[in-house]
Amino acid sequence: MEEIRIYKKNDSDSSDTLYKKIKIKDTEIDGNLFLAPTAGYSDKPFRQICSDLGSSFNYTEMVSCEAIIRDNEKTLKIMEAAENEKMRAIQIFTGSPESAVKSIKNILKFKPSLIDLNCGCPVPKILKSGAGSDLMKTPDKIREIVKAITENTDIPVSIKVRSGFTSDSINFLECAQMAIEGGASLIALHPRTRAQGYSGEANWNHIKLLKDSVNIPVIGSGDLNTPFDAKRMLKETGCDGVMFARGSFGNPFIFQQTRDLLLNNTNPSEPLFTDKMKIAYRHLILAIDFYGEDIAVKEIKKHLCSYTKGIPGAKEIRDKFVRCNNLTDYENVFNSLISE
Ligand SMILES: Cc1cc2nc3c(=O)[nH]c(=O)nc-3n(C[C@H](O)[C@H](O)[C@H](O)COP(=O)(O)O)c2cc1C
Repeated sequence: MEEIRIYKKNDSDSSDTLYKKIKIKDTEIDGNLFLAPTAGYSDKPFRQICSDLGSSFNYTEMVSCEAIIRDNEKTLKIMEAAENEKMRAIQIFTGSPESAVKSIKNILKFKPSLIDLNCGCPVPKILKSGAGSDLMKTPDKIREIVKAITENTDIPVSIKVRSGFTSDSINFLECAQMAIEGGASLIALHPRTRAQGYSGEANWNHIKLLKDSVNIPVIGSGDLNTPFDAKRMLKETGCDGVMFARGSFGNPFIFQQTRDLLLNNTNPSEPLFTDKMKIAYRHLILAIDFYGEDIAVKEIKKHLCSYTKGIPGAKEIRDKFVRCNNLTDYENVFNSLISE
């Protein structure tokens, strides 16, 4: 079986391609393949797996500034760095500049490379507190919050924003401008509206418009399901980097494949079944290390089911994973799958 390549922190890559370094403030990121912030997915175990397979920069799941201020144990744990994680943004959500400032001391204990303000979350509970995509209704507030953070730390600050709240209020350019006035060093754009949620097509033209209007790095998000999508987004929009979200679920190989495609024009080959299962098993073990067995065996189900996407007999494999209650049950399933 071909060995799975693990990327180390100091891998150096030629930059004469669409795969390139990105500079944010005084920080250099040695590649442009980002793991998106995804609540319930981009936790420490998954970030470790993605780093091992070539992601350049990872975002944590979003964390509440209020919970950070209260020293909420679960929230603080979300901010921990994964081993071999080259660089990481901690994504916060808040509607209040004061809360953002109060949370900084605790955030800095986890040594992030970037602090990212969530301006795109569509969930009603988050919007009620004036956070997430609610900030797009009052772009001035984006400037105030970003400014409050940049005035209180040297770490670069970014926002991740949508196209607008609805199709009648497309205002990503104004939101980006406000963030820049507040001192932001990078913008990530998911070009869907809040009203769209995660459905419909992402409008990559908005990424191009943003890239043409600002002089800080722009990272594109939305509908990146294959390495070819990433290459096309980089070419068509001129964005500096791409951010994988759903396309990475059960498929962290997408980082390695995209890197190969961008650097060497190598057509990605589908990973072997045994390699997928090896990584899925490693993911399970990392999850147990992080959450403890009782929580991990539940948390990991959605991930393990995603690893079966496109595999013949996927439904039967998923049924087996769903019935597992402890590590031994999972090990029995993995052993039987690999021996088959
Ligand atoms: C399950 C899930 C959770 C997400 N959580 C977050 C989040 O915490 N913060 C954020 O900025 N975006 C979040 N997103 C949005 C993604 O980062 C990304 O912008 C979006 O899914 C578009 O990319 P895609 O079409 O390639 O999936 C989430 C998306 C999904 C599917």
